[in-house]
Amino acid sequence: MVSPHPALSADLTPSAGAAPVLDLRAVARALPAGALPPLSAAGRSVALRTWRGRMVNEHCSAQVWASLLPQAMRAAVPPALLPGLATAAGDELRHAEQCAGVVVALGGAAVAPLPALRPLPAHAHLPPLEAFLWNIVSVGCISETVAVSLIRAEHLELPDGPLRALLGQILADEVQHARLGWTTLGVLLPRLDAAGRARLEAYLEVALAHQIAHELPLLPLNALPEDPGLPAAGVCRGAEARALFFATLGEVIVPQLEAAGLRARAAWAAAQLRPEALAA
Ligand SMILES: [Fe+2]
Ligand SMILES: [Fe+2]
Repeated sequence: MVSPHPALSADLTPSAGAAPVLDLRAVARALPAGALPPLSAAGRSVALRTWRGRMVNEHCSAQVWASLLPQAMRAAVPPALLPGLATAAGDELRHAEQCAGVVVALGGAAVAPLPALRPLPAHAHLPPLEAFLWNIVSVGCISETVAVSLIRAEHLELPDGPLRALLGQILADEVQHARLGWTTLGVLLPRLDAAGRARLEAYLEVALAHQIAHELPLLPLNALPEDPGLPAAGVCRGAEARALFFATLGEVIVPQLEAAGLRARAAWAAAQLRPEALAA
């Protein structure tokens, strides 16, 4: 998923005018009857908003992974790393269809405004390998590791049943996406010279701030309706999810970047003070 994803680079504000529509009604993957708990009208409305948002995010994540493949090919990265990029794009499309199935099971239509899909940054001022590495760090190492953490926490809260199985499948894929990011970093980082490594370390501040700016709006602090069915419908509490989000960045991702050989702690401290992070 990402992330709730970001991932990645989609603007979730529908564009003005005749915005294109994401319509997954024809490909929504049906859930068995009784897959979801009974919900109040208010609870159902929140659950629908949550799962429709996930559907859109997953769909947009496919664009990000798909864009990484040609960038990787232009950079002549080792061919063993290429199939995983295409697989991840396909996974995200399937995740969107799975989330669409939950929307349908909640009694909704698997239709939503399609956000503007911003192109993946080309970082054209950099050598191709370095430009690709910037993006795979942002997408694979940072966004997908955040996704793993948030989805794992939700998965733990769900009772046994079809929804837990569905989220477990998505989680397994997100783990692979994050592993691809970290594996790629391990393979390509030694190929950067000292100047390239310093540029990547400086970029980490931007990438981490972007992660905050992108993710926090997806984890709103709104009070949830009093509905005992909501946790079993996969609706998380925003405050807890935000705490987990920051813990994942500060206590997992930053140390892992440091372990890979990058000075990430200073970047993380500075990222949290950047205007785009403070405004989120
Ligand atoms: Fe996904
Ligand atoms: Fe993913």
